[in-house]
Amino acid sequence: MDQRTYIMIKPDAVARGFVGRILQRFEDAGLTFEKLEYGVVTREQAAANYVEHQGKPFYDGLVDYITSGPVVKMVLRGPGAVAVCRKLMGATNPADAAPGTIRGDFGLVMDANVIHGSDSPESAEREIGVFFG
Ligand code: RTP
Ligand code: MG
Repeated sequence: MDQRTYIMIKPDAVARGFVGRILQRFEDAGLTFEKLEYGVVTREQAAANYVEHQGKPFYDGLVDYITSGPVVKMVLRGPGAVAVCRKLMGATNPADAAPGTIRGDFGLVMDANVIHGSDSPESAEREIGVFFG
């Protein structure tokens, strides 16, 4: 059954010119772009998206980073979209992400890890509300 997920190409990857190549991977996998938008994340949206990380040592840096420049926000649809996208993205830390994954191929460090993807269908619907609601 079709599922939706929220995916966001982060400021480092937009600035380095990887948008086209990253979108291609989702398109190649057969996912549908239900929404696709270029823009800047507000601090309010960042706080809502990362509410589970509030109070952690990396939280302030994470909000500064995600609001530091334009991102590409999208809603992708397809069978098992949440897990399929997490697999295409690779491990959170690009240093641990396998070659062939988005983070493995386009990133080097945790602080600028190229892309965000929802971790469950419930998170996806919440995050879609934050960014497109
Ligand atoms: P994301 O939410 O971005 O798709 O990544 P994720 O589920 O794989 O990782 P999560 O645990 O949700 O962490 C969210 C983002 O916070 C940054 N982070 N930095 N320095 C650190 O220890 C640390 N831990 C997490 C990363 O940018 C990560 O994507
Ligand atoms: Mg997460």
